[in-house]
Amino acid sequence: MARITAGVGTSHVPAIGAAIDNGKTDDPYWQPVLAGYEWTRAWERETARPDVVILVFNDHASAFDMRIIPTFAIGCGERFKPADEGWGPRPVPVVEGHPDLAWHIAQSLILDEFDMTIINEMDVDHGLTVPLSVVFGQVPEWPCKVIPLAVNVVTYPPPSGNRCWALGEAIARAVASFPEDLNVQVWGTGGLSHQLQGTRAGLINRDWDNRFLDRLVGDSDELRHIPHLEYLRETGSEGIEMVMWLIMRGAMGKATRQLHRHYHVPASNTAVGHIVLEPAQG
Ligand code: DHB
Ligand code: FE
Repeated sequence: MARITAGVGTSHVPAIGAAIDNGKTDDPYWQPVLAGYEWTRAWERETARPDVVILVFNDHASAFDMRIIPTFAIGCGERFKPADEGWGPRPVPVVEGHPDLAWHIAQSLILDEFDMTIINEMDVDHGLTVPLSVVFGQVPEWPCKVIPLAVNVVTYPPPSGNRCWALGEAIARAVASFPEDLNVQVWGTGGLSHQLQGTRAGLINRDWDNRFLDRLVGDSDELRHIPHLEYLRETGSEGIEMVMWLIMRGAMGKATRQLHRHYHVPASNTAVGHIVLEPAQG
């Protein structure tokens, strides 16, 4: 039987990917951002060793645009290439999917009344490749299969935090009913506070971000009830990316235990947050 063994949350700032790709990781600006991932990199390599990561992310007008805006979409293809976001595709490995598990999850979610969009072809942008880079480093191939799960947080209206949490719970049921013995992680990505546009561009809210991280741990389910307006007001227009972390949290079950946590301001315009959780008894 497949089982979810851990959850990872991480920001996805594109400039971090550029720093890694261009050999700048020891620069004084980037070193403290990336130092907070060293624990996770060793843990993934030596202890956790997932077979599959269900990577919850958002596309930034790379694969989708105003012509089609799926709220929740699951990548069921064999592989997904890095997208060209204007400077050529990132020099990172092609993402290998897990079509059997992905189709199983798609079927389970849709019969569980989550109306997923199924994607067989998609290039993946920094929303997916930067989390892989910060957690796995520069590698000739990614060490596990990846099922991309895309969420619309770019064009209003994004899904509610409560709906995201419930989707995570449904993903856990789907994984538990897959007969093959697989070690599966769920990652929630994006955030934390940031605003890239308008008069409040550059907004960061350390206190709010840290309370968000606090409430991912333990048996609280308060986060599922945060309204969109609070994300907008407190964490900036792009802070809404944080609802994707709630899919990861929902998939962890009733309670979680924190294995690792990191918070650093700034990376480009963003507060970088990172957490590693495992399911716990409630
Ligand atoms: C930045 C952050 C993002 O989440 C993003 O998608 C693009 C840019 C930034 O801080 O530069
Ligand atoms: Fe983003």
